[in-house]
Amino acid sequence: MVDESASYRINEDPDQVRREQDRLRMLSRVADGRTHRALTEVGIAPAWHCCDIGSGAGTVAAWMAVQVGSSGRVVSLDVDTRFQPPSSGVIEVRTADVTRDAIGTELFDLVHARAVLQHLAQREAILDKMIAAAKPGGWIVVNDVDWIQYDAQPVPEPFATLSRVLRELSSSQHGYDGTWGRMLVDAFTTRGLREVNGRGEVWTMRGGTDSAEWYVSALDRALAVLPAEVFPAGFDPHAAIAQAREPAFAILSPISITAWGRKPER
Ligand SMILES: C[S@@+](CC[C@H](N)C(=O)[O-])C[C@H]1O[C@@H](n2cnc3c(N)ncnc32)[C@H](O)[C@@H]1O
Repeated sequence: MVDESASYRINEDPDQVRREQDRLRMLSRVADGRTHRALTEVGIAPAWHCCDIGSGAGTVAAWMAVQVGSSGRVVSLDVDTRFQPPSSGVIEVRTADVTRDAIGTELFDLVHARAVLQHLAQREAILDKMIAAAKPGGWIVVNDVDWIQYDAQPVPEPFATLSRVLRELSSSQHGYDGTWGRMLVDAFTTRGLREVNGRGEVWTMRGGTDSAEWYVSALDRALAVLPAEVFPAGFDPHAAIAQAREPAFAILSPISITAWGRKPER
């Protein structure tokens, strides 16, 4: 059986913990602006009750708290809450495994998940839970990447092989789906959500900067627990990591697809 959350479990090693904290903060710096734009478009407002699923460093929850103000509420839910500040003010930090635990029923004006569902084999059931947790008329916003155009570009070797092998392993061992981004609008529409929209964004991933490191550092972390046999004979994965950290390295990112839709009013 696939342990879908195992790829996220960070052990107690202080170096691993610090590196994951750095990586989540990088992801926030790369992605928060796009997320703020999408959540502003759905109309996040004072007094809203919001839930961020797989909230990582907690920066989206912190931004939501500013938008909803003292009469609002934010649940910042993650299976591993070590990388975010503790509950404070309107933010409740909740440790929960969204593959197993309930989120709630008709509680939130906004339920959001960024870079979470594509990693989890139960993504369809989690989307159902997110919709169940929204109030009638509430918004669901999901962001995930799609690799379709990343794979169509000339990614230089050896990084191309490293990237391909680790994504294939992630799919076969942890239920990762690199095509989920393109499925989102259909997944929302077929579940009866209204006012469904989607947007895809691509940026240049430059060696040694946050624009690439959010991904390269995850690959680097994965190498620590992988046997050499997963790669072709003679392949040096560390050379591929070094290549992607060179300032001259520049490729296009996968498509970051955000979809949003509204639960029907009763
Ligand atoms: C790639 S990170 C994204 C973090 C944050 N959403 C962001 O975009 O900055 C994925 C997050 O999902 C969390 N996660 C993974 N599996 C989970 C599960 N089963 N239940 C709740 N959270 C989970 C991880 O702990 C991690 O914080």
